[in-house]
Amino acid sequence: MAELLLVEDRGRVRWLTINRPDKLNALNRAVLEALGEAFFAAVASGQVGAVVITGAGEKAFVAGADIAEFQGMSPQQARQLAQRGQELFAAIESSPKPVIAAVNGFALGGGMELAMACHLRVAAEHAKFGQPEVKLGLIPGYGGTQRLPRLVGPGRALELLLTGKMVDAATALSWGLVNRLVPHSELTTAAQALAEEILAVAPTAVSHCLEAVRRGLDASLGEGLALEASLFGLSAATEDFREGVAAFLENSNPQFPGR
Ligand code: COA
Repeated sequence: MAELLLVEDRGRVRWLTINRPDKLNALNRAVLEALGEAFFAAVASGQVGAVVITGAGEKAFVAGADIAEFQGMSPQQARQLAQRGQELFAAIESSPKPVIAAVNGFALGGGMELAMACHLRVAAEHAKFGQPEVKLGLIPGYGGTQRLPRLVGPGRALELLLTGKMVDAATALSWGLVNRLVPHSELTTAAQALAEEILAVAPTAVSHCLEAVRRGLDASLGEGLALEASLFGLSAATEDFREGVAAFLENSNPQFPGR
């Protein structure tokens, strides 16, 4: 049987490719488990500075949770399934290393939720986004009802959540759901370039920015500002900070140690 998840390093960027193209990369239990294992290994690896998640084939990023696994599911099993997926997606969102979704086609249901759990999204022009769960008598279970309104506002989110319809990549770009839109043939290069752009700056500052934004979105403005001040203080304790300032003053290129 082909591997469900392909792992490849391009420099310091680890590419995780969900590999079930005949089922449009639908997330069954085995795929979720493989994705979790590979993701945690990437976070733990000193060789890896950023992660890109994509789907195999030309048609789909991920067309959702595997609907075949829904049949006969009890309410308790459904709840556990949602909790397991939510845990993994929350771990991706909480990653100290940047995670980019390279959306190479349909990003539906759990696929759109996976893309939204990533920090940044680069999409191919033919990508389509949607939360079609209501068409199955369900609601999103991997964070869609929570992350979508935070990303695009409640009106646009509810339009997708309540109708189950898809939007094209140009609409997703205009809504701020994706960061960049590129021809499909340029998707890999664009996602890799974005990752490398982030790898060029101070890794500790990147982690602190990720933490400040993620935790700040769940806090009041006052709490968020307090968090920012404390992370600003932590940044000033790093070798990256000393290197960045010294390199600027010497007019040289900083070599950040990542500490
Ligand atoms: N779960 C399980 N299998 C899926 C799937 C999913 N979420 N999405 C697609 N597949 C399978 C199809 O059953 C089909 O399998 P088969 O060839 O063995 O019959 C294969 O992937 C190809 O999909 P198909 O529907 O034939 O492609 P299409 O181009 O006609 O349609 C979609 C593409 C994305 C519009 C359609 O597959 C779809 O609506 N998928 C479900 C999306 C969804 O509801 N996701 C949320 C789940 S909570």
